[in-house]
Amino acid sequence: MAEPFRAALRGMFQSALERLSADGVVAIAPEELPALVEQVRETADPKHGDYSGTMAMGLAKRAGRKPRDVAIEIIRRLEVGDVFEPPGEPVGPGFINLRVRDDALARAVAGACGDERLGVAPVATPETIVLDYSSPNVAKPMHVGHIRSTVIGDALARILKFRGHHTITDNHLGDWGTQFGMILWGWKHCRDDVAFAADPTGELGRLYRLVRKVADARPDELAADAEAAALAARFPEAGREVLAETAKLHEGDPENRALWEQFMPVCRREIDRIYGRLDVAFDHTLGESFFQPLLAGTVHDLEACGLARESRGAVGVFLDGPDKPPLLIRKADGAFLYATTDLATIRWRMEHWKPDRILYVVDHRQSQHFEQVFETARRWGVDGPGSTDLVHVAFGTVLGDDGKPFKTRAGDTVGLEPLLDEGVARAFGVVTAADAERGTAMPEAERRGIAEAVGIGAIKYADLSQNRTTDYVFSFDKMLELKGNTAAYMQYAVARVEGIFARGGVDRGTVRREAAAIAFTDGRERALAMKLLRFGEALEDVEADYRPNVLTAYLFDVAGAYSTFYDALSVLKAEGAERTTRLVLCDLTGQVLRKGLELLGIRVPERM
Ligand code: ARG
Repeated sequence: MAEPFRAALRGMFQSALERLSADGVVAIAPEELPALVEQVRETADPKHGDYSGTMAMGLAKRAGRKPRDVAIEIIRRLEVGDVFEPPGEPVGPGFINLRVRDDALARAVAGACGDERLGVAPVATPETIVLDYSSPNVAKPMHVGHIRSTVIGDALARILKFRGHHTITDNHLGDWGTQFGMILWGWKHCRDDVAFAADPTGELGRLYRLVRKVADARPDELAADAEAAALAARFPEAGREVLAETAKLHEGDPENRALWEQFMPVCRREIDRIYGRLDVAFDHTLGESFFQPLLAGTVHDLEACGLARESRGAVGVFLDGPDKPPLLIRKADGAFLYATTDLATIRWRMEHWKPDRILYVVDHRQSQHFEQVFETARRWGVDGPGSTDLVHVAFGTVLGDDGKPFKTRAGDTVGLEPLLDEGVARAFGVVTAADAERGTAMPEAERRGIAEAVGIGAIKYADLSQNRTTDYVFSFDKMLELKGNTAAYMQYAVARVEGIFARGGVDRGTVRREAAAIAFTDGRERALAMKLLRFGEALEDVEADYRPNVLTAYLFDVAGAYSTFYDALSVLKAEGAERTTRLVLCDLTGQVLRKGLELLGIRVPERM
C-alpha cells in the first residue's frame, strides 16, 4: 500500500529540515523535528494545492530572517518524488503549498477501493489503550446523562482499534454505592412483591426513586409526593438507616449480600438491553464491587509509601500540603470512597493489562476528582514517562430547549430508554412519510427496522457531532432532519451512493478490479478523490484530541463533495474510462461513508 499523503509529507519535510539545519540556515535540534513536521495542514482553498507547510514562519523568527526566505530555502530542499507536484513559490507570508499529482491520486484511489482498510495505514506504534466509559450507577434507571459517555466512549474505542491500537474496554459499573442502601432499605420497608415478579427493574427503580426522597427528606419533594411524605413521617431516621444498610452490605452482612446478589443480575439485564439497542459492547464489566477486596490494601500501601496519612480518624492524600483539603481515601467510620476504588482500579489495570494509556470518558463535573486521583497515581509511580498516561476525556452537559440540563416537563431526569423509544417512534414517522412520498410501498416491518437504525443513529450522531467539551441542546426535530449534518442525512447518502450499483446493474467487484485504469478529467472528481483519501487523517485527528466530531465533520464533507460531483457529472451514462473513474469514486465514497458510520457506532440500513 502506498504511503498516505500526510505521512509522506512529514517524511519529506523531515529530510528537508534536517538539511536546512546541516547547511546552517537555521539550527534545529533533532527532538524539535516531530513538532515541526506536524505543521502541515489541509489548505483551506484547493486552488492553493492540497497541503500547506507552515513551519517557515516559526523558524524564520528564530533565524532572524524573512519567513518567505526560509520557505524558499525549505522548498529548495524538498524532494517531492513522484507523489507531489514540484512546489512553486511560497504563498502569503511563507506557506509552502503542495499539490498531489493527479496520477498519484488516481493510483491511491485505485489502491484504496480494493483495500479493506480503505487506504488507511495502521499506526506505526500500536499502544494498549484501556477505555473506561458508560459506567452507570446501576440499580437506578439509565438516564440521558449516560448517553454521552456511552456513545463517545464506544466511538473512540472503535476508532482507536481500527487505527491499530490494542484496545480494552471496561464498563466500570457503579454497583456498590449508596444507591444499594436505598434499594435495600426500600426492599425491607415498602416493596411490592407482585410488581417485582412482573417487572423487577421497574420495581427496583420505583424503590430507588421513592427511598431517595424519603432519605433526603427535602420538604419540596415530600410536598409533591404523598407516599414519600408518609414514609418519611413514619421513618424519621430513614436517611441514617439507608447509610447503615450500605455499610452492612460492605461489611459482608449475609442478608444484604444475598439481596445484592439477587438484584445485580436484574440490573445487568436492564442495562444490557439498552446496550444491545445502542449496539455497544464491552470487553469487560468489572464494576466497583470487583475491586472491593483490594481497597484496604490500597490504603495501606499509600500510607506505607508516605503518600497518605491519618487525620482525625480519616485517611487522606495531602496533595497540596498539610493545610489544603486532602483527597480522602478512607472515612473516619472506615468506609472507602469513590477515589479509593479508582486508585485500586488503576493499580489492577496496570498489573493485568499493562496499558500505555487509560482513557476515562466521564462528565466534566468530575474533573477535580480525576485530577486528584491522577496526581496521586503519578506520585504512586503509576502515571508518567514509560508508564501509563491517564487521561480524563471530559464532556459537557445535555441541555433542554430552555438551555438548562435536560429534564422532563415534571422536572425529573429523562430516562434513557423512553428517550430511545421516542427517537425511534419519530424516525418511524419520518421514514413512513418519505416512503409515501416516493411511493415505494415498503412493508411496515422493514420501515420499523429502518426506524430503529435511524432513530438511535440520530441520537448517537447528534451527540458525536458536537464538540465534546461543550454543552448541547437536545432536539429531536433537528437530529431527525433529512438535510444537514445528521445521521439520517448520512444514512441516506450511503443508500443513494450504493443505489447506483443496483440501478445500473453494476458489479462492485468488477469496478474495483478495473480501478487501475482510472484518470480524472474534471476538478470535481479530483476534489472528491482527495477528500476520500483523507479518511486516515481524520481518524488520526480524532485520536489527537479524542474528538469524534472530527470524524462526523469529515464524513459530512465527503457527502458534500460527493453531491457536488454527482449533481454535475453523469455516472451511469458516462462511457469508457470516464465511466470507470466515476464508478470507482462512487464505490469508494460508499465504502468510506459506511466505514465511517460504523466507526461511530451507527448502523446503516440496506435501503431507506
Ligand atoms: N459511576 C460513575 C458515575 O456514574 C462514573 C464512573 C466513571 N469511571 C471511573 N473509573 N470513575 O458518576
